[in-house]
Amino acid sequence: MSTLAIQSVLAGLPIFNTMLPGVKFFEPKDHFFKQMSAAYRGLRVYDVGAGMGHIALGLALEGMTVTALDLIMRENAEFPVVHTNSVGYRYPSDSVLLFCRPCHNQFVEATIHQGLRCGVQHFVYAGLAKNVESDLGRFRRDFVSVARKIGHDGESLYVMGKSKEVWAGLLEG
Ligand SMILES: C[S@@+](CC[C@H](N)C(=O)[O-])C[C@H]1O[C@@H](n2cnc3c(N)ncnc32)[C@H](O)[C@@H]1O
Repeated sequence: MSTLAIQSVLAGLPIFNTMLPGVKFFEPKDHFFKQMSAAYRGLRVYDVGAGMGHIALGLALEGMTVTALDLIMRENAEFPVVHTNSVGYRYPSDSVLLFCRPCHNQFVEATIHQGLRCGVQHFVYAGLAKNVESDLGRFRRDFVSVARKIGHDGESLYVMGKSKEVWAGLLEG
């Protein structure tokens, strides 16, 4: 079995029939939602590892088309969350994969790989600088930082793929 296949299995063991307490890790500031809307309006955004779905809700309220995915159900979810393993999901090629303060278990790396297999061109990571290396793994050098202080813990926003052009345009304008 290849390393990637093992990673995918380890990162994506579904935990069905489990309900965890509601907890919010990434608490975005308002300008995060506005910037996401400016960059991706018209594309479907997958909030991968959505937790309670509060980020998906904020994006939807901004007029965006959003699907929230998570392995585990959480109490007091704020948005419908599809209970699935992101590593094996079939993403439409014209979608955006968004990871916000993910678990450090290599599921982001394996999900990016799956997104690329599906032809996805937009990848977005919202997290702490100290977690970039471990969360993005082999893709860490493909991401660039495009916005700072987008969350209440001082998270930054990093993008990969076609998103680099989109954000360069936004930042110039
Ligand atoms: C640290 S929490 C962050 C949740 C949310 N993004 C937030 O900021 O509050 C990471 C989430 O990723 C989910 N997760 C981990 N591996 C996953 C996988 N393979 N597929 C889908 N979700 C996964 C976990 O269940 C967990 O809810």
